[in-house]
Amino acid sequence: MRKNIVAGNWKMNMDYEQGLSLFSEIVNMVKDEVRGEQEVVVCSPYIHLPALAKLSAGVTNVSIGSQNCHQAASGAYTGEISASQVKSTGATYIILGHSERRAYFGETDELLAAKVDAALGQQLKPIFCIGETKEEREAGDFFNLLKGQLNKGLFHLNEEQFRNVVIAYEPVWAIGTGLTASPEQAQEVHAFIRKTLAEQYGEAVANDTTILYGGSANPSNAESLFSQPDIDGGLIGGASLKSRDFLQIINVFN
Ligand code: G3P
Repeated sequence: MRKNIVAGNWKMNMDYEQGLSLFSEIVNMVKDEVRGEQEVVVCSPYIHLPALAKLSAGVTNVSIGSQNCHQAASGAYTGEISASQVKSTGATYIILGHSERRAYFGETDELLAAKVDAALGQQLKPIFCIGETKEEREAGDFFNLLKGQLNKGLFHLNEEQFRNVVIAYEPVWAIGTGLTASPEQAQEVHAFIRKTLAEQYGEAVANDTTILYGGSANPSNAESLFSQPDIDGGLIGGASLKSRDFLQIINVFN
């Protein structure tokens, strides 16, 4: 059966010491509390990763991840970081396809497919983000657009590879805006994503795939979102930067 995951995306926040102190609080609060098939993931800036790996060593329900990597294995790419370098920090997850990377850094579906391959080649589990803008939603057929993002970014993978992927549905209009998809709106899309996965990989794989919701999730709306049948947790931005808020969201599953 699929795993519930609450993942924090710190984005470009937290200086080194601030990050360590926030993460220590999170680890201390959840290490004895998270039960069953639930995992807490913190996706920090690169600078924190080796230290976070040390702080969470032996804590089986807490994992760490990066927010990006370069698609090449190594080489003359000043300022970039490879999947194997991410892996060497102790990270096990990697966010790919976030709408901020797509919009501000021009990441295309084709580039993301290459990054997915680079990540899986290093046994990093992609948290692959898809989502529509407000205009795309209002224009109507955004389900096809979401299907296209899945198709171009992920569907070249075989079943064994795909089983390491987590999907995050992040409606772009809900990210950092305080606007949240209603539980019904989010469930409608998550059910569509699962149906699309079933068409590609079969029911069993679709049912085993964790699909997260992201977009202004917070302690007040997490319960109604996570209680939907196809929502298996969240990818949390702003609310993951405050330990109490993040813990309240994590505790929805306890
Ligand atoms: O990846 C998380 C995300 O984009 C949602 O951010 O701040 O709306 O929770 P936020």
